[in-house]
Amino acid sequence: MDKIVIEGGARLEGDIEVLGAKNAALPIQCAALLGDGASTLHHVPQLTDVHTMNRLLEGLGCTTASPEGQPRTVRIDPRGVAEGALEAPYERVKTMRASVTVMGPLVARYGRARVSLPGGCAIGARPIDQHLKGLEALGAEVTLEHGYVDVVAPREGLRGSDFVFDKVTVGGTQNLMMAASLARGHSRLENVAREPEVQDLAVFLNKMGAKVRGAGTSVIEIDGVDTLHGIEHAILPDRIEAGTFLVAAAITGGDVLLKNAPVDHMHAVIAKAQEAGVECTVEREGLRVVGPDRLGPIDVTTRPHPGFPTDMQAQIMVLATQADGQSLITETIFENRFMHVPELNRLGADIVVNGNAAVVRGKSAFSGTTVMATDLRASASLVIAGLIAEGRTEVRRIYHVDRGYEALEARLRPLGARIERYHGARG
Ligand code: UD1
Repeated sequence: MDKIVIEGGARLEGDIEVLGAKNAALPIQCAALLGDGASTLHHVPQLTDVHTMNRLLEGLGCTTASPEGQPRTVRIDPRGVAEGALEAPYERVKTMRASVTVMGPLVARYGRARVSLPGGCAIGARPIDQHLKGLEALGAEVTLEHGYVDVVAPREGLRGSDFVFDKVTVGGTQNLMMAASLARGHSRLENVAREPEVQDLAVFLNKMGAKVRGAGTSVIEIDGVDTLHGIEHAILPDRIEAGTFLVAAAITGGDVLLKNAPVDHMHAVIAKAQEAGVECTVEREGLRVVGPDRLGPIDVTTRPHPGFPTDMQAQIMVLATQADGQSLITETIFENRFMHVPELNRLGADIVVNGNAAVVRGKSAFSGTTVMATDLRASASLVIAGLIAEGRTEVRRIYHVDRGYEALEARLRPLGARIERYHGARG
């Protein structure tokens, strides 16, 4: 297993390009299943999750290909999807929960989907009850057996319907948007997720010929259409990657231009950073972040968009460890999403968890040691913590990082970070 080794203490300075958003790419890859021809995606980040999704689509009968020398352009052709293979197997779903997002397109376009239940994962139970209730509202029949969920559309196809989500869910919203796009008649989805990645999916679907309105608000209305077409689309930039770099620049007292940062989707993160004293300036090319001499404490509560994103909770906690005073970080989206805390404490942080709240007392001096990545964003927090630790920090199980950050170490190095990847290290 690879590991990343960081020699702390360098100030980050320069420009870094923010790449396409993982969480926009994954559902859009699934949406390509809905087309009557191939779709071409641009700005697709080179991540293991994106590759896993391509393998899953290939297992369904799609072909996926990139032009020579352009790995971030991916053409997905669903024309080979075969009746018999409408299944997302356990091996895929267990490594990537977003696999369940093939369910909506498969059942809408091909009449059936069989998807392994995701089961528990490192950051909590993460059920899919809302996805299933929503598909039932569109007329699908759902049965659970042998750890798989079977979703079957009526013979005449799904029918538009009104559905109110009990809980705001990003993946659930995306599954239903895709299913309703090919259903007969009108659907009104209430209490939907408002994340920018939901909006990017709506843009993609509408380009294909769908009639989706209201994405970005809490009500989405969809008029079903008979067919959708293959199209071209550029994935929007990743607000979480941008936020991660923002924290890295801020804690090292750096001066970094986040080129292409989706500033309009980052208000909650920028507001908290500014509250802590970080200088954030919108420039023509992106967002400039200048770290102050002294950071102040912050209170952060994760919420569905436009609230503070849970995917930035671990990283903002590292910033809080460097603030003079006591910060409070409350996680309301996922249970059990504080697994980075013991590892940050091993580096020298003073963080106490009580239920879904973490009290962070700063400012802590970090000293490098070996730490273990436990999930994607936790691992990002450990890498950026290593940037300010005295001496050498070794982050193990780095495959978590590769799920969501393309070539992280190679992209941080030009900013001055002393960071290396070692291949094949044990642990
Ligand atoms: C997506 C993101 C993930 C992010 C999360 C929350 C992708 C590929 N992943 O995950 O990075 O952390 O949004 O912003 O876009 N829930 C239910 N029942 C359901 C569905 C969800 O109870 O049917 C719960 C979950 O357990 C969780 C909360 O709702 O506690 C939010 O989950 P959801 O928004 O669905 O997250 P994902 O779409 O899986």
